Amino acid sequence: MRLRITDLSRGGAGLGRLEDGRVVFVPKTAPGDEVEVAIVGGKKRYLHGRVQRLIAPSPQRIEPKCQYFDRCGGCEWQHLAYTTQWEVKKEGAKYAFERLAQFNSKEKGVDWREFPADEPFHYRNRIQLHGDAGQLGYFERDTRALIAIDRCEIASESLNASLPSIRTEAEKKMKGPFEVELREASTSDGQSEVQSAWFYGKRYSEFSQVNDLQNHHLREWVFEQVPEGSVVLDLYGGLGNLSLGLLSKVKSVVCVDVNAPQDRSTDSIRFVRSSVRQWCWKATHETVPELDALLRGGSRVLILDPPRAGLGSDFAYIRDVYRKLQITKILLVGCHTDTWARDMVRLMKDDWKVQGLALFDFFPQTHHVESAGALVQL
Ligand SMILES: C[S@@+](CC[C@H](N)C(=O)[O-])C[C@H]1O[C@@H](n2cnc3c(N)ncnc32)[C@H](O)[C@@H]1O
Repeated sequence: MRLRITDLSRGGAGLGRLEDGRVVFVPKTAPGDEVEVAIVGGKKRYLHGRVQRLIAPSPQRIEPKCQYFDRCGGCEWQHLAYTTQWEVKKEGAKYAFERLAQFNSKEKGVDWREFPADEPFHYRNRIQLHGDAGQLGYFERDTRALIAIDRCEIASESLNASLPSIRTEAEKKMKGPFEVELREASTSDGQSEVQSAWFYGKRYSEFSQVNDLQNHHLREWVFEQVPEGSVVLDLYGGLGNLSLGLLSKVKSVVCVDVNAPQDRSTDSIRFVRSSVRQWCWKATHETVPELDALLRGGSRVLILDPPRAGLGSDFAYIRDVYRKLQITKILLVGCHTDTWARDMVRLMKDDWKVQGLALFDFFPQTHHVESAGALVQL
């Protein structure tokens, strides 16, 4: 059917309306496009479409930098200028949170700090590729068809430069479909190198932020929020990305994560390898060796940076911990707006007051955005 795209949804797709009021979401379209679409799925009130033919392009369209953009399942927005992407992303995230939380940031006098991307291309320091039969690339959108690539416009240039040798290595050592994760890493003499990890079946190494420039802004924001002399509990803390930078101003840090590097613990930061739920249960029902350090400080800050699914059923266990430790400030960071907003609301219902909000564009060319909220006890 023929459709006029009128808006861009914060989920990434363009959208148009049928005469009966139903909305049709169409990926990789722009407001103002006239398109012929095939309906590929949907529910009662909305449908999903795929572009069959671009009848008249929107004036908002720009030429995608990537030659694979039309087919690749990675980037969603290379056909839009970065300023448009950021506008849709930040307004969408603000609206989603403020509507769910019934929170008017202007009325409450709480500013949203905004951190658009300094560099909208070549920002990824880590990529995951699929490979088979001498080819290396990404999957096509919604399918597992492999698109062989020679370069990726959001990967760093050093990762791109490594692709020919990775392909040669793959041909020698991998048989059948495989995955490879490439990441930029520093060597012991301070040089940068590309490291590779090879897998059959999906199994990637521990989490690290993919965008160094934006990660720097996030770490600075966290640093500003934490009062001098605090003790910090960093749950879902990974390798200590958000708390290691605080050591110059806080008394001590306890960092809990299923992948925490326990052997890197020092007098001032203790890494605990545990699920958050198990550690919280132990800290409230039994005792954990880290408790003494946490109870020492005047101001006690809890950092929460869960995976995309949010706090989920861990929340009840975390609540027991922040009550027992008399936490005075919570920083909640999330890479999925909806789950982050839901968790913010759960904290607000438990009498936490929003003190600051921030948005960081870690993922230009996609609809994803990193959100953060600072909350204090009422
Ligand atoms: C979004 S990452 C944040 C990591 C870290 N704060 C950073 O900035 O690099 C989420 C982290 O949660 C950890 N994780 C996921 N589920 C967990 C669980 N149930 N208990 C503890 N850690 C978990 C992952 O290992 C990952 O390091």
